[in-house]
Amino acid sequence: MQFGLTRARPARQRGDCIVVGVYEGGTLSPSAKELDLAAGGALGDVVARGDMQGVLGTTLLLHDVAGLASTRILLVGLGDENRLSESRYREALCAAARVLATIDAGTVTLCLHQLPIKGRDNAWKLEQAVLALTEALYVFDALKSKPPKAGRTLEKVLFHLESPSRTVACEAAIERGEAIAEGVTLARDLGNLPGNICTPSYLAGRARKLGRQHGFTVRILDRRDIKRLGMGGLLAVARGSREPPVLIVMEYGGGARKALPIVLVGKGITFDSGGVCIKPAPELDEMKFDMCGAASVFGALHAAALMKLPINVVGIVPAAENMPGGNAIKPGDIVTTLSGQTVEVLDTDSEGRVVLCDALTYAEKYTPAAVIDVATLTGAIVTALGDVASGLFSNNDALAREITEAGSRAWDRAWHMPLWDEYQDTLRSNFADFPNIGARDPDAITGACFLSRFTRAYPWAHLDIAGTASKSGEDKGATGRPVALLAHFLEARART
Ligand code: BES
Ligand code: ZN
Ligand code: ZN
Repeated sequence: MQFGLTRARPARQRGDCIVVGVYEGGTLSPSAKELDLAAGGALGDVVARGDMQGVLGTTLLLHDVAGLASTRILLVGLGDENRLSESRYREALCAAARVLATIDAGTVTLCLHQLPIKGRDNAWKLEQAVLALTEALYVFDALKSKPPKAGRTLEKVLFHLESPSRTVACEAAIERGEAIAEGVTLARDLGNLPGNICTPSYLAGRARKLGRQHGFTVRILDRRDIKRLGMGGLLAVARGSREPPVLIVMEYGGGARKALPIVLVGKGITFDSGGVCIKPAPELDEMKFDMCGAASVFGALHAAALMKLPINVVGIVPAAENMPGGNAIKPGDIVTTLSGQTVEVLDTDSEGRVVLCDALTYAEKYTPAAVIDVATLTGAIVTALGDVASGLFSNNDALAREITEAGSRAWDRAWHMPLWDEYQDTLRSNFADFPNIGARDPDAITGACFLSRFTRAYPWAHLDIAGTASKSGEDKGATGRPVALLAHFLEARART
């Protein structure tokens, strides 16, 4: 799908469809009004008849309206005129995309980005439109024997630009949106692959491919290297599986040679059965999504490289499969991590932190400007924040603020959670330095506390994406979050 700009008046715009908004109560948006005028009041008549009342997310497709050059007009309900917010704007875009996916439209003109949203400029609305449309039109059918085909695929989306808008800024916003959307798509594709295909070795292969595509260095540490280095955590989690673990290291060098890098660490559990503390069967298939942190690191590096960001970024992915078995770690086993600290594995299902800790220690060798780890770490964060915000924990308030702001700009939001000393106290073991789970409830926080014991050497933040990285139910699938947040964070860092 290609995105571009057009300055032709909406009524003159040729193509297969033009998309305009209608507010609740039937008020036409400015571009809808312009079409209505050229069509002798035809749109107003449709609204007056009650077929389009402007309820948010509703749509009405009109054909061959006299006086208009486009063969179809798609009316999209925007809801209350005074309440158009970022989320409601995205909802309207998704509703439009759902219709566009099923009709035979190749070239489409969009006018929805002209609607005012408090605090957001044209560039923001354009970037979001590119992201929302790409996300809504995404399908994962590579593993169906006969891919279902609905309508013609959308080839070209043109955004109508009012004359005073700055073309350069708008073009840049579209390009940024396209690069980030490609990163999101890569993360979704990797996340959606099943555990029997997307193994640690498969991820290693995809990392090599990404490195070749963009010309950056990729190193794969295998079980021998992992053992030699002393990564007892990663080794322990992988023990129960036939799939060998890997530590994937990707080095994107867009910045100055000596500039300290941002390190992104992604949890890469390609399937989380829980290990000996095995999980119950319902929805267990969704534990193939337990490598979505890793996928988002791939996606962020892909987006950064496409945007040619002048910054150094290192991606580190500890990848393993968490399985029960005769050789698997057992509750009570004690492992020595790369940091030298010993961990009593009280729960083999809290495996994410046990692989991440070694990757976080490994990151020290880069003397990073900052480290962000991304992980589907805890069910508890889903209870706390649902699927709206990722949980954000940090040992550095300025870094946390930067990440929160990047999330807001990307509309891929994160919420800052506490990491106070009181929470640290629950991590106490009679036998090792500390256990991998706390004695009391708030597991999302204790999980972060555990990680904080491996990140004292640099500014660090942890994103718990267990609620945001994938969807359950009818729309089951990976979302590609938080690629957009990470891309915006890197983009802002590259500018300073
Ligand atoms: N991968 C899970 C966390 C998770 C839960 C991700 C739901 C996505 C959706 C993690 O490894 C895990 O199993 N955590 C346990 C920890 C518990 C045993 C202390 C959990 O959250 O239930
Ligand atoms: Zn687990
Ligand atoms: Zn897990």
